[in-house]
Amino acid sequence: MKIIECANYDEASAACADIFAEQLKKKPDSILGLATGSTPVGTYRLLAEKCARGEISFKRVKTFNLDEYYGIGPGHDQSYAYFMRDNLFDHVDIEPANTNIPDGLAKDVGAECRRYDELQNATCDGLDIQLLGIGPNGHIGFNEPDDVFTAGTHLVELEASTIDANARFFASRDEVPKSALTVGMRTIMNAKKVVIVASGEGKAAAVRAMLDGPVTPRVPASILQLHPDVVVIADSAALGKL
Ligand code: GLP
Repeated sequence: MKIIECANYDEASAACADIFAEQLKKKPDSILGLATGSTPVGTYRLLAEKCARGEISFKRVKTFNLDEYYGIGPGHDQSYAYFMRDNLFDHVDIEPANTNIPDGLAKDVGAECRRYDELQNATCDGLDIQLLGIGPNGHIGFNEPDDVFTAGTHLVELEASTIDANARFFASRDEVPKSALTVGMRTIMNAKKVVIVASGEGKAAAVRAMLDGPVTPRVPASILQLHPDVVVIADSAALGKL
């Protein structure tokens, strides 16, 4: 793993945006794996600025998001579909038809999970680059600590700590969905390159466990120790427990 230590969130966002911009310059029809949460907001803003300046284009890009809350639709302002439009897709020249997010309103969850995995497989032999944040409990996407790593897209019950962590985005904790659809470790580990960004001391324990602890489904991000091309972009606070 390559670790890029940054002074703060803004520097981390700039470092991450530069990696994605280089990817798009090198391969304009890249297939991107995208993440939500507060961490990638700065990266997306910088990518939108680069696009507005004509330095990069998303015209030929396809995207697959990691996850979506289960039980809310794309019009809900806390859905990840809404987040992606609000933070990136509405500000760049991407074709909406080329963006993919699991359907949080799917009635047949198993069929939706299969559809999402099959679509990725039909589109590419591994995403070109996968962006990740990390949960305070070490989750990636919505792969929560568990007894096993799950390979494919699946429905997960969110941990109480994850519901607590994400309650800040909802009017009340009760409104946070209790489950989510997330890609599994196969999507993440098959990506040609993984970039994981962590900022703030609230992530320090998870970052240490990811980098220094055993590879275990109790710390889902620890599986990245087995990936051949991972870049960890973290600020000093997030690296503070190493
Ligand atoms: C959310 C998302 C993750 C994200 C993580 C951290 O629950 N499902 O993809 O990485 O939690 O979020 P944040 O960046 O807001 O700390």
